[in-house]
Amino acid sequence: MKSEFPRDNESPRAHAALLSSTPKGAAIGRRIARQHLTSWGINSRAPEAFHSALLIVAELATNASTHGRVPGRGFELALSLTTARRSRTTVLRIEVSDCRGDRHPVLPGACSPNSQSGRGLTLIDALASRWGTVPRDPSAKTVWAEIDLTSTDAPTHATDAV
Ligand SMILES: Nc1ncnc2c1ncn2[C@@H]1O[C@H](COP(=O)(O)OP(=O)(O)OP(=O)(O)O)[C@@H](O)[C@H]1O
Ligand SMILES: [Mg+2]
Repeated sequence: MKSEFPRDNESPRAHAALLSSTPKGAAIGRRIARQHLTSWGINSRAPEAFHSALLIVAELATNASTHGRVPGRGFELALSLTTARRSRTTVLRIEVSDCRGDRHPVLPGACSPNSQSGRGLTLIDALASRWGTVPRDPSAKTVWAEIDLTSTDAPTHATDAV
């Protein structure tokens, strides 16, 4: 059967970057995400998902460079676009890995209107199709979020997933 989103080994939709755990590193992560998602056609095919993804990258990168920071260690941003063979759903996955494997994101309860913090994960929870945290050896973790793209939104060269 012909795939709607054929595998494109010449140009896989995946990118990873190691960044410094600083505000500048977080800003560079957002810029990298903007560049890659644009080159994958997400800004034009799925503008809402595009802006959601950039907000998610910004919040995860900021969290990694503050709550997940280990002096002298960076954090990793990984982006990928895959199409599930069975459902044909194209999924944009954002992963941010930091070196504080002993501390984890905690979705706060309702924040007070005057609260100056505690909004990042609430925002991610609202914008992402799903998100979570997985350990990453030896003492690190990955906080990930996925956004499902509809077939009409999705670029035509996502990498097929099993
Ligand atoms: N990468 C991380 N490593 C360790 N703890 C984290 C990480 N991300 C989030 N947390 C924990 O989860 C809490 C909630 O994160 P959230 O992003 O919602 O709020 P915040 O970062 O405190 O404030 P805001 O994002 O509004 O500036 C944080 O206060 C922190 O305790
Ligand atoms: Mg935050």
